[in-house]
This record gives sequence, C-alpha cells and structure tokens, in this order.
Amino acid sequence: MCGIVAYLGREDAYPVLIKGLKRLEYRGYDSAGVALLNDGEISLHKCKGKVSDLESHVGVPNVAGSVGIGHTRWATHGPPNDVNAHPHLSGKGDLAIIHNGIIENYNTLKEELINRGHHFESETDTEVLAHLIEEVRSNTDTSLFEAVRISLNEVVGAYAIVVMDKNNPDQLIAAKKSSPLVIGIGEDGTYYVGSDATPIVEYTKNVVYMEDEEVALLDRTKGLKIVTIQNREKTPYIQELELHLEALEKGGYDYFMLKEIYEQPRSIRDCFRGRISLQKGMVRLSGIEVHEEKWINAKRIIIVGCGTSWHAGLVGEYLFEDLARIPVEVEYASEFRYRNPVINSDDIVIAISQSGETADTLAAIQLAKSKGAHIFGVCNVVGSTISRETDSGCYTHAGPEIGVASTKAFTAQVTVLTLMALAVAQKRNAISAERLHRLIVEISSLPDKVQTALESNKMVEHISGIYKDARNALYLGRGYTFPVALEGALKLKEISYIHAEGYPAAEMKHGPIALIDEEMPVFVIATHGQSYEKVVSNIQEVKARKGKIIAIVTAGEQHVLTLADHIIEIPKTDDALVPIVSVIPLQLLSYHIALMRGCNVDQPRNLAKSVTVE
Ligand code: AGP
Ligand code: GLU
Repeated sequence: MCGIVAYLGREDAYPVLIKGLKRLEYRGYDSAGVALLNDGEISLHKCKGKVSDLESHVGVPNVAGSVGIGHTRWATHGPPNDVNAHPHLSGKGDLAIIHNGIIENYNTLKEELINRGHHFESETDTEVLAHLIEEVRSNTDTSLFEAVRISLNEVVGAYAIVVMDKNNPDQLIAAKKSSPLVIGIGEDGTYYVGSDATPIVEYTKNVVYMEDEEVALLDRTKGLKIVTIQNREKTPYIQELELHLEALEKGGYDYFMLKEIYEQPRSIRDCFRGRISLQKGMVRLSGIEVHEEKWINAKRIIIVGCGTSWHAGLVGEYLFEDLARIPVEVEYASEFRYRNPVINSDDIVIAISQSGETADTLAAIQLAKSKGAHIFGVCNVVGSTISRETDSGCYTHAGPEIGVASTKAFTAQVTVLTLMALAVAQKRNAISAERLHRLIVEISSLPDKVQTALESNKMVEHISGIYKDARNALYLGRGYTFPVALEGALKLKEISYIHAEGYPAAEMKHGPIALIDEEMPVFVIATHGQSYEKVVSNIQEVKARKGKIIAIVTAGEQHVLTLADHIIEIPKTDDALVPIVSVIPLQLLSYHIALMRGCNVDQPRNLAKSVTVE
C-alpha cells in the first residue's frame, strides 16, 4: 500500500529518494513523485507509472536539495494519473505532503475548506490534508509541528505522512496512524523516513518505529521530538535494525519472486531453528510458553488473515484440530471485523500477516482484543504494527518478502502453525510421544524435501508452456491439501491474470464439474495419505469429462501416472506437512506461466504488497 520515503541531511536528497522509492515500489506502484527544497523553492516532480518513469520524467540525474520527500502510490481516491500522484502541495504552495492511508472524512473537510476559499487540483484525500494543515497554521499562527498535530485531531482514517515546509529547510514533520512509518536516525542531524526499513537500512541501523497517533519533528539541530496528537511528549524508542542490505537485492535471480521461492529451504530452516529439539522430542515457542495456561484452557481458536495468510490459517485449522484437538474457526479478517462475531475471553485469536500491516487484520485484532480474547501474532516483519498490537506471537523469520505474490512467507507461516499445534498438543497431552517425535523428525527434513521439490522446476516450466494460454484453471485438494489448492489458484490469478479456482476435490461433483472440458487444466494434489484413494476417484471423474489433469504426486507414484496428463513428483512426508512441500510446484507453475505471458511477476497489475487500507 504505497511507499513513503523522506530525507533530511547534508547530502543530495534526490538519489536517496529515488533509491528508496525503488526499494518500496513493491508496496504500491501506480504513480510516483518527489518534492525537493532548495534555496527556498520546492521543486515538484510526479507522474503516473513506476519510479523508472518518474526518473525519465525528471530527465536529469539529480535535482538539487538536501531535504526532500518521495512517494509511490496505490490509488484509493482518484485514478492513477499525474495530478493525483504525490507529493501534493497546499494552497499557497508552501507545504508539500506525502501520505499512505485514507482520510475517511476528507469530503467534509474539503467542503469546509472550499467554503473558506481553497481550490483543489486533484481528486485525492491527501491534498485535502495539505490544505487543512495550511489553514490551521494560518488560523493559529503556530509552528508547522503544532499545526500538523492540531489538524490530525480533525482527521478520521489512516495516515502515514511526511510534511515539508518551503520556509523551513531544517525540518520535516512525520505522523502515523494505522499505516506504518519508520524513522532512521543518521549522523549529525541526518534523518530518514520510510514506510518500512528497506529504504533506510543502507544508511543507518538506528530506527524508531512510530506508534499510532504520534507526530514527530525531525530537525537538523534540535533533533527528534515525538508527541501524541493529544500533545503528550513521548521518548523515542530507538531500536537496532536486524535487516541486512543483501536481503533486499535479487541475488542473481531475474525476479524477487523466484529468489524467494528458492530461499524456502533456508527460510523454513530459519523458521524452526531453536524451536524444536530432536533429542528431547519437543517443540518450544516462547510466545506460547509465557501464556501456557491460556493455551491449555482455550475452548476455541479463531484464526484471522487475508489472502495467502488466510490460506495458511486454513492449514492451521487442520493442524490444531488434528494434533491439539482444539476447535478452530478461520475467518477472513475483513468479514470478521464487521459481522459482530461472538468472541469470548477464553478464545485465542491467531492473526497471520506477512507484512504485519494489513488494515483488515489489524482491525480484526483490535476488535478481538476489546472483547478480552488472547491475541497471538504470526508475522514476518519485525516491529510491524500487528506484531506490536498482539499479546504474544512468533515471527516467521522468512526474511524480507519483496515479491507481491507471497511464497516463502506462506511456507514459513505454515511451519510456525505446525510448531504451534505441536507445542500446544504436548501441553494438552493430545498427542502421543511417538507421533510427536515422528513429526519433529519430519519437520527437520523439510528443507531437504523442499529442495528436492524445487528440482521439478524444469518439468514445471515445460508444463507451464502447455497451459500458459488457458483461460481458466481448477485446483483440487483434499484434507490438508485443500488450502494448498486455494493458494495455488491465488498464485496463478494474481500474477498471470488467468481465472483460477481452488476446490475441495470432492466438491467437484456439486457443480464445478460442469466446467470440465478439454480446455480446462485441472491441477490436483494427489499425494499419498489419508485422502489418496478418494482423490484418485475425483481424478477419474475429471478424466471421464476429458479434463486435462496435472497431478502433484508422491515420488514413486504409479497409479495416477496412468490417469494424469502430467505428473509432478514431490518427496513423501507426513500428511500434516504435505502443504509445505506440495505448494512448491504450484508456486513455480504460476511464476513460469506469468513470465511466459509477459506479466510483471514481482509487481502484478492492481496489486500491492501490503494492503494498509480497507
Ligand atoms: C498473496 O500472494 C497476496 N500478496 C495477498 O493475498 C496477501 O497474502 C494478503 O494481502 C495478506 O497480506 P499479509 O500477509 O501481509 O497480511
Ligand atoms: N489515499 C491516498 C491516495 O489515494 C493515498 C493512497 C496510498 O496509500 O498510496 O492518493
């Protein structure tokens, strides 16, 4: 959901802004812009398109100024075009602002400002905020810092903003509510601001994650000051970044998505490292240990998430019910937050979010928290808003996921959920020592099994070439692999733009089988395990209607070989761990098909990496 970057220092701001915007572009990329202050003048450059289009639009290698702000947009109010791109100026042109989020009451504010003689150029809610701050400052004859704070008390909605003042080259003002904002503290009065740490990490490791309803004054000589919008001073909590620059590079791969698919043996190992003990035959998660009683006495688990995280949550449902014998409900966060759900104080809510910034998931947490439930977060981004909102949690340690299509985050989320289910099953004496030990052994072999699954890449690429022009596709799974069918379908949809649906294999008979003809590729997860024979029957039903079958099977499979048009083998593993291994070929499939169709694999159309607005 859009990228914000700002710089206040002694060097040229433009290169810092452009490089920062490129690092943030995965967050939202329908238009981009920069504003720099030099010799008392603001130079504003913005256009529809990507950051590279902005560079062409600017036309020169540098724009003078040692203070500046930059933005990549994911439009919410007003279509992507040059005028609606950020930064936006106030009426008199003295202030420039960039914004991530939604000003929900912008219409009311805009009408009031128009009645006071303001004229607007764009259709955005953001421009209204620039004019509001200007109006407040002129009416109260106060500092910009104070004017921003007062103005934000008038605002309903989500914001991460940075404001630059033409008449004060030594300051920037930042503020945050619901959308993320990080301040980087450099040497001798140099400051960086970013939507996340990626544009900051190469300059400084000292960061402050802003909290909701905070306003920050960044001043070359006066330093950093933070107050709440109620004007209560806060002591900035300076943390040291764990992020490393090389994690933000493609590392020789053509796309971040491919790099992240191939990182999974490492990311899964990092995810369970230090959390399982083969010798002791146990799983230990500190986030569960410290609230052991909650988990032992839990009557129900509610899992909330969006998109791929919701699919991981569905695997979590099978895991917790199968292994720990606790009833589980899995909810789309966007539905959960508005349907007036019944939430009890002995409920545990697990919130799953790679970015830790998804607005719907954050709101669902806040609702559940208000009802007294225990909130456990499964996030990938350290210090993200959701990870700070929860009572406890477990980071997935997958490393930065830049590709918009989530891959390594999904397998890391499912790995964490598996560890959680086992840890709780132990505490509730719901699992035999033998099965626990067998699963721990299997978990420790996952990196090698995922590596083996990656070796099917050439076969998958060949199959992709056959089905790249399909107009529709079906994905079928059963039991633990039903959520994988949904995830495979989402991957194909979101990066190749082919319509795809995931279904429980048995559900085919209740309607979707009418879709089957020789034009329909059907991707079926038919691995050995509890549902194998039933899935084979479903394959035969599809075959009888001339559907094309591409089956993910357990290595050594013979029977499905005679039925399917193509098979992709993966190593055998426990039913409960099949989701982590069987998703690999489906990730590769979506990658190759999207590439063959000329789609932008890392930045698919209409999407953003983190949806921080409703
Ligand atoms: C998955 O490939 C998509 N990028 C999207 O569905 C994503 O999973 C969803 O927006 C949730 O994001 P989160 O995990 O950061 O909360
Ligand atoms: N609501 C603002 C707009 O539509 C900001 C969108 C964003 O977060 O990128 O311009």
